[in-house]
Amino acid sequence: MRKKINVGLIGYGFMGRTHSNAYCKVNHFFDLPYEPVLHVVCGLEEDKAKAFADQWGYRSYTTDWRKVIEDDEIDLVDICVPNNVHAEIAMAAAKAGKAILCEKPLALNGKQAREMVEVVEKAGVPNLVSFNYRRVPAVTLAKQLIDEGRLGRIFHYRANFLQDWTISAQVPQGGMATWRLDVKAAGSGVTGDLLAHCIDTAMWHNGHIKSVCAMTETFVKERMHAETGKVEKVGIDDACMFMCRFENGSLGNFESTRYARGHKALYTFEINGEHASIAWDLHDLHRLSYFDHRDDSIVRGWRSIHVTDADMPYMDKWWVPGLQIGYEHSFVHQIADFLENLAKGKPTSPTFSEALETQLVCDAVLSSAKKGAWEEISYR
Ligand SMILES: NC(=O)c1ccc[n+]([C@@H]2O[C@H](COP(=O)([O-])OP(=O)(O)OC[C@H]3O[C@@H](n4cnc5c(N)ncnc54)[C@H](O)[C@@H]3O)[C@@H](O)[C@H]2O)c1
Repeated sequence: MRKKINVGLIGYGFMGRTHSNAYCKVNHFFDLPYEPVLHVVCGLEEDKAKAFADQWGYRSYTTDWRKVIEDDEIDLVDICVPNNVHAEIAMAAAKAGKAILCEKPLALNGKQAREMVEVVEKAGVPNLVSFNYRRVPAVTLAKQLIDEGRLGRIFHYRANFLQDWTISAQVPQGGMATWRLDVKAAGSGVTGDLLAHCIDTAMWHNGHIKSVCAMTETFVKERMHAETGKVEKVGIDDACMFMCRFENGSLGNFESTRYARGHKALYTFEINGEHASIAWDLHDLHRLSYFDHRDDSIVRGWRSIHVTDADMPYMDKWWVPGLQIGYEHSFVHQIADFLENLAKGKPTSPTFSEALETQLVCDAVLSSAKKGAWEEISYR
């Protein structure tokens, strides 16, 4: 008999949809001790919250997130709001004893993230941050291959996250659709929004980043603010590149921009080791490229692994070999792992504490770019 777990979702936008979809699907594909119940959805606009509740099957809706926290029936608070609202909601949810799933980046900066970690750990509530790319099966398989030692010593970790949607100076900053361009709501630009994903995956694959040297640029210096109607200075980084050293001695190279014309969401990584290399591309997310120098030279070359067999991460839960899954499934896997571990009383990675480490790297990247100098990262 599955135990019901009542979900209070805060934010009915892009991530609100991916998370709701995951709650709806998870019990159909995973044998879990818990069954999420879509209890209440919260968002700023009442008509949209109501429409969302109707469409996804939430029992009720509200425009006040505090009502979600105060509701004794809610077990799990799921935070899918802009970055500047994460901290207040997460800390209130922790104090009310709720389990928490919070979207990334955890906070606006490391200082705020640290405060969140302290509150959540003091409350002892289960907590997870939604760095969902870890749970794309090909990305999880990459982790498995690295941990098995197939690559040998790692020399290089390279990652890009390229988009092109803010090139026009007419795109406003702030407001419902463009809060990502407003530094007060987002905390930073591509560094917290996109590179945070790359950093989370990289540190999961390859260990801690020790030091960074970065440059950022804001190509469009002023934009109209959607809330005030005034042209205001842009405070976010439009593009960011950084090189880094990992604690294991390998070198990293990361780039993100929203000015790479032709790219919508080109997240790629490549890892080069002593014996083998791995490469992955979000546009072809069910494939993992693998090169092994130990193969006979006459058949040596990059192979494209179709990650659909039942012995590959998560794939025994889906279709038959050869039939792939997609983006939304990473969120189903995230919920499945969280619910499984909840029953066992085990933490699910990345916890708030692990996401704080990513936040500290983001802070160091921004600080390095400002100073034009290398920045060491202290995780203590
Ligand atoms: N994991 C990922 O790949 C991924 C992808 C996109 C966004 N995100 C993260 O998810 C979060 C939400 O992003 P999104 O793209 O879904 O945003 P969105 O703009 O699509 O939706 C934001 C939602 O938050 C609600 N909201 C805003 N302020 C609120 C408040 N004070 N109280 C209650 N509701 C409020 C809005 O009504 C809206 O429903 C951000 O932290 C973002 O960085 C993560």
